[in-house]
Amino acid sequence: MKLYFCGRHVKKIIITIDGWSSCGKSTLAKQLAKELGYVYVDSGAMYRAITLYFLRNNIDLAERKEVKEALGSINLEFVFNPKSNNSEIYLNGENVEYLIRDLIIAERVSDVAAIKEVRELAVAQQQQMGKKKGIVMDGRDIGTVVFPKAEVKIFMTADNAVRVQRRFKELYEKNPNVTVEEVMNNLEMRDYIDSHREVSPLRKAKDAIELDNTNLTEKEQFNKALFWAKERIVTG
Ligand code: DC
Repeated sequence: MKLYFCGRHVKKIIITIDGWSSCGKSTLAKQLAKELGYVYVDSGAMYRAITLYFLRNNIDLAERKEVKEALGSINLEFVFNPKSNNSEIYLNGENVEYLIRDLIIAERVSDVAAIKEVRELAVAQQQQMGKKKGIVMDGRDIGTVVFPKAEVKIFMTADNAVRVQRRFKELYEKNPNVTVEEVMNNLEMRDYIDSHREVSPLRKAKDAIELDNTNLTEKEQFNKALFWAKERIVTG
């Protein structure tokens, strides 16, 4: 079935948002999804939930057999919560959306996300979720590996100091013991591991639009991204 708006053909597309840690990818992705009536998927939440499982079960990341067996016991699911107006991640039936935002998880997640078998599991599920299009997904390899043919690809950047302040503010609200230094070290470490790993390293897809939001308000960046999306949604 073809959809039309003001006589023009409207199609469902895939929007990918990749970039460095704490650039505001999820904020933008959620806003776009809401505006367009699309599904939002936070791919990082999947790697974080797997990390939580590994930590709880003392999985040795160097033991690939142990890792593979553990992955076989993991079921991930996103369930929409109308109260938070967000799709929240469930690990084997338990809502872990808030637990996975902890610094303990952030300190380990990049090592877990660098494991080939972990990525294979996550990527297969992500591709399945995008089958019907009408989706906004954020992460590190979404425009390069998960949906290389996505209609709109955005690559987000921002100055380090700005990113550290943003993440610090977010974590401080939950845990006043957190320090700026801890947050800065964690961001630097994650960016390094995420962009230097062998499997699907973070990089800008050739056809991605770079969005540096150091000096942009949320509203300004949203308007830019919405414009790029609408250009591809409404054709003919
Ligand atoms: O977006 P986030 O900070 O919640 O992501 C957590 C970690 O997961 C990040 O440090 C790298 C990894 N990740 C990834 O490797 N690939 C993705 N598509 C999304 C996240």
